[in-house]
Amino acid sequence: MGRLSQPRHVLITGASGGIGAALAHAYAGTAERLSLCARNEARLQSVADACRARGTRVDIRPLDVTDVDALQAWVSSCDARQPIDLVIANAGKTLNVGPQGEAESWADTKSLLATNIDSALATVIPLIGPMRQRGHGQIALVSSLAAYRGMAITPAYCASKAALKAYGEALRGLLGPDGVGVSVICPGFVESDMSREFPGKKPFMVSADQAATIIRKGLMRNRPRISFPFPLNLGTWLLAMLPAAMADFILQHISYGRSR
Ligand SMILES: NC(=O)c1ccc[n+]([C@@H]2O[C@H](COP(=O)([O-])OP(=O)(O)OC[C@H]3O[C@@H](n4cnc5c(N)ncnc54)[C@H](OP(=O)(O)O)[C@@H]3O)[C@@H](O)[C@H]2O)c1
Repeated sequence: MGRLSQPRHVLITGASGGIGAALAHAYAGTAERLSLCARNEARLQSVADACRARGTRVDIRPLDVTDVDALQAWVSSCDARQPIDLVIANAGKTLNVGPQGEAESWADTKSLLATNIDSALATVIPLIGPMRQRGHGQIALVSSLAAYRGMAITPAYCASKAALKAYGEALRGLLGPDGVGVSVICPGFVESDMSREFPGKKPFMVSADQAATIIRKGLMRNRPRISFPFPLNLGTWLLAMLPAAMADFILQHISYGRSR
């Protein structure tokens, strides 16, 4: 699979704000149909109105993606309406340790894993069979540069994004021969409600629109991994290559470790 044609039907989870909304705007005007979900109906509606104004049909569904039965029923109904060319499992949440280094509670951790892992996999799995059968389709999983190396200030988030990265890499090998592309998206810091909650420094932050442009370009090229921005991508990649003790030392000194 080389450069792909424009997707006609794009499904995006978590499209009421941040990266998901910016992606919806990026595909509006060229895609025939967008299927968007998130919990906040008013915000979803305003994203849909802006996309419709550019000539794209938009179906929205207010939905909590942790209700995986409802999520999967919605995904399948969207595919039945018009075959989905591109699915972007984007909905996600974050979690940080407490200001005094208090560990994340099990309740919070469980909720994060349900949103970031279970729901992302539940979004794409119903489309694997139909896409394989059609010999066409693309799956994108929104992971993070935090997938490369665990950081003490956000353990469960890093673990959830590492799981998505591994799953996407595996799925690409499985589905590529059937004509289905799989990309793992690893953004660094992107301006959004989520990044505002992050307690550490946010170097090389890009806007959600800039992120959407980079992601869209990478997906057109069926890139296995869409990691950005370059300096942070290189830094996190190197960090993962270093001996663990050296990486811990560096993280401690750039405020992503726990200070004593
Ligand atoms: N921003 C960054 O710096 C950054 C960096 C790397 C990776 N990412 C990843 O990029 C993705 C998008 O994040 P963002 O930065 O755009 O954050 P955001 O502005 O907080 O947006 C998150 C989106 O996910 C939706 N969502 C969250 N929980 C949901 C649930 N249970 N059910 C349905 N929708 C849900 C939210 O909508 P509702 O609240 O309306 O449900 C919202 O549309 C996430 O997977 C995140 O981990 C972000």
